[in-house]
Amino acid sequence: MNAPRHFLQFKDFTRAEFDHLFERTRWIKQQFKSYHQYWPLQDRTLVMIFEKASTRTRLSFEAGMQQLGGSAIYLNTRDSQLGRGEPVEDAAQVISRMSDIVMIRTYEQEIIERFASHSRVPVINGLTNEYHPCQILADIYTYIEHRGSIQGKTVAWIGDSNNVCNTWLQAAEVFDFNVHVSTPPGYEVEPERAGLYGTDHYEEFADPMEAARGADLVTTDVWTSMGFEAENEERLRDFADWQVDGDMMRQAKADAVFMHCLPAHRGEEVAAEVIDGPQSVVWDEAENRLHAQKALMEFLLLGKVGQ
Ligand code: CP
Ligand code: NVA
Repeated sequence: MNAPRHFLQFKDFTRAEFDHLFERTRWIKQQFKSYHQYWPLQDRTLVMIFEKASTRTRLSFEAGMQQLGGSAIYLNTRDSQLGRGEPVEDAAQVISRMSDIVMIRTYEQEIIERFASHSRVPVINGLTNEYHPCQILADIYTYIEHRGSIQGKTVAWIGDSNNVCNTWLQAAEVFDFNVHVSTPPGYEVEPERAGLYGTDHYEEFADPMEAARGADLVTTDVWTSMGFEAENEERLRDFADWQVDGDMMRQAKADAVFMHCLPAHRGEEVAAEVIDGPQSVVWDEAENRLHAQKALMEFLLLGKVGQ
């Protein structure tokens, strides 16, 4: 049996593979919008394992699998043996013998790596402490839909150097764009944890206004990610000057778009005038999770179809 392909971090795929995925995303989205049935994954089963909360990821994977003709099963830590200490390697053996593809949302990246190395079927990262590759897959597709190629463009990341930030940084290496990162002191990018090949595709700015200057895309995320709740009070203080507001958006290019993976906290990392304003593409961004992940599952299960 050949080892299955996985999508555990953004750099697992090549630029050419992403280009294929985006082509398929566009086509799959068109089918969905015109109510055309497309069931290439009939009789295939997706298992979704959640160790953290979710709205978009669960919904987009579950609805996506159903729309492709397959079925999806939801497992969470609370009511499965996963929460009672069954070794992840054993869970991987069993779950991957009963399903065709697995999506996992968990804590350390190491957990999903261990699962994948014992899985007979493709494993997709639905968010770990380190990465959120499905999010950036949808985000880059959304940017291309609105503005065309992202190559050579500047993305301003304002806030925490978290899983979503790390994934933007990996994507910058794959697609050859630049990221201007501004975090409060003590929350800077850790290149090794971000899984970067180098430091060529990003620059750090002490002042978030400077990071936003001339950007084509401004993006941010919650100040306290899941799993870090104990630091919430401290983070509210530390990040107070890192809110994306109207003044900050005016530093960016006039046609810059604003993205946020959601859920958002208006009045914390983003002002309502920005997320609910004309430059915001957050609803397209959320919807595109559905279409992009359908293309991803099609690719992992059937290879490059439609060529
Ligand atoms: N953006 C995102 O992954 O949202 P959920 O936490 O709702 O899945
Ligand atoms: N960085 C956030 C993203 C949520 C989709 C978290 O990990 O909680």
